[in-house]
Amino acid sequence: MKRVITYGTFDTLHYGHIRLLQRARALGDYLIVALSTDEFNALKDKTAFHSWEERKAHLEALRYVDLVIPENTWEQKREDVQLYKVDIFTMGDDWHGKFDFLSDLCEVVYMPRTEGISSTMIRDKMRTG
Ligand code: CTP
Repeated sequence: MKRVITYGTFDTLHYGHIRLLQRARALGDYLIVALSTDEFNALKDKTAFHSWEERKAHLEALRYVDLVIPENTWEQKREDVQLYKVDIFTMGDDWHGKFDFLSDLCEVVYMPRTEGISSTMIRDKMRTG
């Protein structure tokens, strides 16, 4: 059983997220999503439209996602990888190289981001109409 983990906010779930999660799950047999909490997003100066509980419910409704856990800090990744016996850590390539420090614990894979869509774009459109 190959276990895969990915991190993010996944606000206003869109096809860029779906494609990322589909490919992440296809790297193994079990996909864990560490979902940024509202408090962690506040530290990053980011405000999601949907609450953590709502974003978690969206992810849990997807066939590609097996488990959603909270992402509370930047530093928790090494601990998560060990605790959940993760084989593959994956993120979109907007993070290229940023998590190579995990490669002594697991495989690190960056996947091409989907062009032309982001939560920021959707939130901006909802604001301006
Ligand atoms: N992602 C992707 N393609 C997109 C948008 C996101 O592959 N068009 C990936 C990111 O690379 C990341 C994951 O989805 O691995 C979660 O990204 P997140 O930051 O939650 O989504 P964004 O839409 O980029 O959100 P924001 O605009 O708030 O940064």
